[in-house]
Amino acid sequence: MFDNFPLWPTRASTIAGNVDALYIFLLIVSGMICLLVFSLILIFAARFRKRKGVPAEQIEGSHALEITWSVIPLGIFFFIFAWGAFIYFKERTPPPSTLDIYVVAKQWMWKTEHMGGQHEINSLHVPAGRDVKLIMTSQDVIHSFYVPAFRIKQDVLPGRYTTLWFRATKPGTYHLFCAEYCGTSHSQMIGEVVVLEPAQYAEWLGGGPATPLPLAGQQLFSSLGCSTCHRFDVQGRGPNLTGIFGKPVLLEDGRTLTADENYIRESILNPGAKVVSGFKPIMPTFQGLVTEDQVNALLAYIKSLSKPAQGTVGARASGEPATGTTPMNQVQ
Ligand code: CUA
Repeated sequence: MFDNFPLWPTRASTIAGNVDALYIFLLIVSGMICLLVFSLILIFAARFRKRKGVPAEQIEGSHALEITWSVIPLGIFFFIFAWGAFIYFKERTPPPSTLDIYVVAKQWMWKTEHMGGQHEINSLHVPAGRDVKLIMTSQDVIHSFYVPAFRIKQDVLPGRYTTLWFRATKPGTYHLFCAEYCGTSHSQMIGEVVVLEPAQYAEWLGGGPATPLPLAGQQLFSSLGCSTCHRFDVQGRGPNLTGIFGKPVLLEDGRTLTADENYIRESILNPGAKVVSGFKPIMPTFQGLVTEDQVNALLAYIKSLSKPAQGTVGARASGEPATGTTPMNQVQ
């Protein structure tokens, strides 16, 4: 009966039920408080109305009453806070093993890139029942990746990566919106997320020729000359990148940080910012020389050097012939 007038979108991810439960709880609590306040207004208006010949009685405060109406709401608010924080951390922390997909936003479209090299525009195909992590960046202004059916939303920023993860539960086609005003055609920056059964998804992946993203990155690594300094056989002028992803890195200034997506991205585009201990700041910047898609490919390659299981590329890139051009079907 309510099929054409749903109260909320379909629940199609593992987190959706959690978000809805909290939302319904907030609605019920707000509704009850609203009802309480309005009832008391009406009751008091009737009970303490002005009567002829009855002088107004001055009522002093009541500590017991004040403490009660402070402590009970405080408890309720802390409960809501803890519940919200629990969902937030669950939604913000990707599980250890995910299917990684790159997303590049631009005015006004969504580009998605799979590890196998498949590219899509305003569309994202994912398998049901699998944890998917989106590694997202923008080519221009701030956008926001929003899939109501999954109850997830994350800003997509220029100059850095933000991530988002979900596990779709129901095959189907769901709306994808940009939820951050990003210019004239913001409202047309929409697309669809297509959730397929794992078998159909495998079939979809095999649908056309594509260069796996780590392989495209490996070819770039050679053609851009990265492999002349970042060597895998002997110590080069740059650090050996084997196995560095996700590991702590000691910097020249004594700080230690984790080699995550954003660190690798920064090291490609602004290499002087965080130089690894023991190395000289001699690497040139690749800002403006590589597209977002190419940075993603390089990142996928560097990650593959730490995870041989994912898109096995092997750890020796220096011997690869330079190809000169990018093999990816780029959409600019
Ligand atoms: Cu992109 Cu709004």
